[in-house]
Amino acid sequence: MITLLALSGSLRLGSSNTLLLEAAGLLAPAGMRIEPYHGIGTLPHFNPDLDGDNPPEAVMVLRRRVGASDGLLISCPEYARGIPGSFKNALDWLVGSFEFPGKPVALFNASPRAGDAQAALRLVLTTMSARIVEEASITLPLLASRLDAAGMAGNSEIATSVMAALAALARTIEASVQMEEGGPG
Ligand SMILES: Cc1cc2nc3c(=O)[nH]c(=O)nc-3n(C[C@H](O)[C@H](O)[C@H](O)COP(=O)(O)O)c2cc1C
Repeated sequence: MITLLALSGSLRLGSSNTLLLEAAGLLAPAGMRIEPYHGIGTLPHFNPDLDGDNPPEAVMVLRRRVGASDGLLISCPEYARGIPGSFKNALDWLVGSFEFPGKPVALFNASPRAGDAQAALRLVLTTMSARIVEEASITLPLLASRLDAAGMAGNSEIATSVMAALAALARTIEASVQMEEGGPG
């Protein structure tokens, strides 16, 4: 079973990015489970002084959940041509974690206008040694769609794109597992 952790960069109720991740959950193929992470808004402001031997409980939960996942699905809006502060805060808590580096990441984007935030995310995530899977990273024009998650999953264009992305991410994860199993030893 492949487990993906879904992280939305928007705290907004009815967020198009969160709905896109929920649609992905509905479209996940057999053998894949997509679990939402809802804790972004509960994380304290990042402070290196708090990031010692006993980081805050909410941070430990986030790190544990990242560590327990085979890959991450991230869908993040653009605020003032950048990454929303609350989401960057969550990423900052993962910079010093051993669970994050090397993690395969699919970058979902619900707005073709959000190019600056996407570029910033790519820079930050690659700096954090994430493995962005390009074939699994998609941009869809969903801001004005008014679709809920089921509506997105039921829309053939959206569903085709999301399912292809999930399949590409699954292939990357499976290939890395095979490499590890077939590696020296
Ligand atoms: C404070 C704020 C700043 C925004 N800045 C931008 C921006 O620079 N570029 C852009 O394309 N959209 C911008 N938007 C629009 C959001 O990206 C858009 O509302 C999007 O739907 C938010 O994602 P969500 O639906 O997942 O909450 C901004 C929205 C807010 C609230």
